Amino acid sequence: MDKIIINGPCRLEGEVEIAGAKNAIVAILPAAMLVDGVCRIENVPKISDVENICNILSAMGAAVRRVEEKTLEVDCSSVRCSEVPYEFARKFRASYYFLGALLGRFHTATVAMPGGCHLGARPIDQHVKAFEQLGATVEIKHGNVHCRADRLTASGIYLDMVSVGATINAMLAAVKAEGLTVIENVAKEPHIVDVANFLNSMGANIRGAGTDVIKIQGVSRLQGGSYAVIPDQIEAGTYMAAAAATGGRVLIKNIIPKHLECISAKLEEMGVSITEYDDSILVDATAPLKKTNVKTMPYPGFPTDMQPQMCTVMLRAEGISKINESIWDSRFKYTEELTRMNAVISVAGKVATVEGGHQLLGAPVRACDLRAGAAMVIAGLMAQGTTVIEEIDHIRRGYEQIVEKFAALGADIRLVSD
Ligand code: UD1
Repeated sequence: MDKIIINGPCRLEGEVEIAGAKNAIVAILPAAMLVDGVCRIENVPKISDVENICNILSAMGAAVRRVEEKTLEVDCSSVRCSEVPYEFARKFRASYYFLGALLGRFHTATVAMPGGCHLGARPIDQHVKAFEQLGATVEIKHGNVHCRADRLTASGIYLDMVSVGATINAMLAAVKAEGLTVIENVAKEPHIVDVANFLNSMGANIRGAGTDVIKIQGVSRLQGGSYAVIPDQIEAGTYMAAAAATGGRVLIKNIIPKHLECISAKLEEMGVSITEYDDSILVDATAPLKKTNVKTMPYPGFPTDMQPQMCTVMLRAEGISKINESIWDSRFKYTEELTRMNAVISVAGKVATVEGGHQLLGAPVRACDLRAGAAMVIAGLMAQGTTVIEEIDHIRRGYEQIVEKFAALGADIRLVSD
C-alpha cells in the first residue's frame, strides 16, 4: 500500500492553486446522463472519485474523453443501461446521484447502496421521499435501490432536513419531469448552485439554487454545451488550515473568496490575517493563535468537511477549544490518531475538547477517511520528526496532487509506493 511520509515540523510558505470542486463534479458527471449531446466540462479535478465515475459512465456506454489536462468531454447519448452495479457504487458515496440522473432520463434506475466515508449512519430516506413525490416507486432490496416511474410529474417536495445529496438528487429527477417542481428546505452549498448552473447551461430551467427554495420547470430535452466547475471550497479551506496550523503564509489561488467566508471568519477570530483578492486569498498565520469554538452547520455555516482540518489549527492555539459536530454521528475517529501524535483531545458524544499548545510528535497514523486524511497530513507538517500516513487512498478520492502541492509550499513530504 502507498504511504505519505512527512518530516516535520515546517512552516508553509508560497502559493497553491486550487482544483475544481469534488462535490460538484461528482454530481455533474452523473447529471451528464440527462443530456443529449456532448458536455464539455472544464476545471475537472484529477482525483480518484472522478476516475471512478468516468469508469461507471464508460461501462454504461458513454463516451468519455480527457481532451485537455483538466477538461473532459462526456457524451451519454448512446447509453441504454440504467443500472450501476455494486463493484462501482461501493467505491464512493456520490454514486447515489446516478439514481436521480437515471430516473430522470430512463424513468428507471437501479444503483447499489453507496459506499464512501464512514461518518456514521448515512440514510437516504430524503432522496427516496423526493423520488416518490415525483411519482416513482422505490424499493431497497438485496443491497440495491430500485426506482421506477411510468411518468415523472412535478410536485411540492419538503425535505425534512437539509441534505446536500437529497437536494441534488431531487433536482436531477425533476429536471425533465412534467410541470413545476418546488423543493423546500434545500441545502445551499456552493456545489448545489454549481450543479444547477451546469444543468441550466444545458437547457434546464432551475431557479433559486443557493436559497431555501428551488423551483424547477421541467423541460423535455437538455442539449450539450460547455461548463467550467467552480473551485473546491474544502480543498481551499484545507490549505488555509494548513497555513494556519504551521504558522505559515500562503497565497491560495483560483478560489471564490465568498465560498470561504465561513472558514476565513473562524481563522480571523483565532488571530490569522486573511486578505481577500478577486480570485485568491492570502493567509498569514505568523502571529500566535487564540483558542476558539466551532459548530459544524449546513452552508453558510462552518462545513463539517473542514472539521478535522480545523482541529489541527486548534492544536496550535494555546488553551482549550471545542468542536461541536452537528451533521455526522461519527466524525471524531481521527482524533485517536492525533492523540498518538501527542495531541490532547477528548471526545464526549458530538463534542471534542482540544487542548492546544502541545508539540505534536511524528508517528505512524492512518487516514480514516478523506478529510481525516487531510488532517493527518497537516498534523504531520506540524509534528517534530517523521509521520507515516497509511490508507491514503481515502485522500486520493478528493485531493489532487496533495504531496506535490505541499512540497511546493516547502514541506518535506513524499509518496512512497510499495
Ligand atoms: C455531502 C458531502 C459530504 C458532506 C455532507 C454534509 C458530497 C458528495 N458529500 O454528503 O462530504 O460531509 O454533504 O455537508 O457532496 N440525511 C438523512 N437522510 C437523507 C439524507 C441525509 O437523514 O436522506 C442526514 C445525514 O445523515 C446527515 C445530514 O442529513 O446527518 C446531512 O447529510 P447530507 O447533506 O445528505 O450529506 P451527503 O449529501 O451524503
